[in-house]
Amino acid sequence: MDKNTLSITDNRTGKAYQLAVTDGTIRTMDLRQIKTGSGDFGLMGYDPAFMNTASCRSAITFIDGEKGILRYRGYPIEELAETCSFLEVAYLLLHGELPAEDELSGWADEVRHHTMLHETTKKFLEGFRYDAHPMAMFVSTVAALATVYPESRKVLDPAIRVKQIARLVGKVPTIAAYCYRHSLGFPYVYPDNDLSYTENFMNMLWKMAEPKYSANPTLARALDVLFILHADHEQNCSANAMRAVGSAQTDPFLATAAAAAALSGPLHGGANEQVLKMLDEIGSIQNVPAYVEKVKAGQGRLMGFGHRVYKSYDPRARIIKWTADRVFEVTGRNPKLDIALELERIALQDEYFVSRSLYPNVDFYSGIIYNAMGFDPDIFTVLFAIPRTVGWLAQWQEMITDPEQKIARPRQVYTGHDARKVVPIAKRVTHGVA
Ligand code: CMC
Repeated sequence: MDKNTLSITDNRTGKAYQLAVTDGTIRTMDLRQIKTGSGDFGLMGYDPAFMNTASCRSAITFIDGEKGILRYRGYPIEELAETCSFLEVAYLLLHGELPAEDELSGWADEVRHHTMLHETTKKFLEGFRYDAHPMAMFVSTVAALATVYPESRKVLDPAIRVKQIARLVGKVPTIAAYCYRHSLGFPYVYPDNDLSYTENFMNMLWKMAEPKYSANPTLARALDVLFILHADHEQNCSANAMRAVGSAQTDPFLATAAAAAALSGPLHGGANEQVLKMLDEIGSIQNVPAYVEKVKAGQGRLMGFGHRVYKSYDPRARIIKWTADRVFEVTGRNPKLDIALELERIALQDEYFVSRSLYPNVDFYSGIIYNAMGFDPDIFTVLFAIPRTVGWLAQWQEMITDPEQKIARPRQVYTGHDARKVVPIAKRVTHGVA
């Protein structure tokens, strides 16, 4: 018998089947042949929230959640964060290899040529209320780019895809900065193409009346490192949204907006905003034990803790902690760090968190750095969305070019009524379901 197979006996019929095992998986479609009779649809897998279903083959990001390993295209995240710029890592994620010098300068040039927003997009942004949530503005404005670049709908054309990728990577910092300045009521600052990707972002965020913005190199590097850490994370909720929406051959601006919408949720990228709110609510170190008890009693979650995949320390959290020290040398220590450290100390020795393998994730410390840099919590998830746009686009490109992929369309287990007749409205009874 072929060793790379799975033998199944269907006890309902007594029939035996052999399914091929490839890369540690069976094809769920192979279950379909398992039927009780000719009228049977065939066996399906039931897996709400994709707890144990691989939806694609991917060569982009590798995670070993037990060992706390994260690699982009084979390179450990620690090495990339230490030695590369964000644009180098973006190139790596999108093209599969680190760029040589001329490739990097060509790529940086391409991105730089796409940093400007069409003036109509700028006006569109002006229509938002002054207190609109920055993430809602970001999602809507990314979607609005589809109105400016109608050719983006030709998703099967490789040259058009490459162009939209450069546009999105170039424009998301501009959109993010404009959302930020819109919230503050400040005039928008146009991109400065003399500056690096992150320096230019800082320029668009913080330039006031000075003729030329000069970024603090430590803060610019810290932001670059944070961007590297957030650039991709394989099949997370937003990457899955990007692939699912993109699988309908939707244009990349709308698919990216859908992915960003998924990111905005508090269980995903929105957690960084919630962490800061939680630290504010705790208020001081003395209140930490009582807060942990509340969480253990089921009153809320410890935001920035836990992960579907990591069952040990999130390697990104470790690098972020290290980056925080560099940032605090410039900005002064953020007092919220002490509350966070105490929260981590208590949680890591508490049976509740230990038995559930709940460790700090990427969002636990990133907000403290952003806060020290002067950002308010409601912009944090937008800062996450800028680099993650690269990951979404890499996932999208891989999905579009994968001959095995089709429109994403899960099955369901129907639990509703059998067929029944419509009762005329005058004869219906009130069910009180609304
Ligand atoms: N605080 C307290 N208890 C928790 C937490 C937490 N942060 N996370 C999970 N648990 C408990 C949960 O109540 C459950 O306990 P029990 O078995 O007694 O019912 C157990 O741990 C397993 O939790 P789960 O909800 O089944 O785990 P999941 O894999 O579905 O959820 C998660 C993963 C990240 C959504 C979850 O850990 C969470 O809500 N964390 C807080 C939000 C957060 O920090 N999100 C950012 C994730 S990392 C970056 C990103 O994805 O953007």
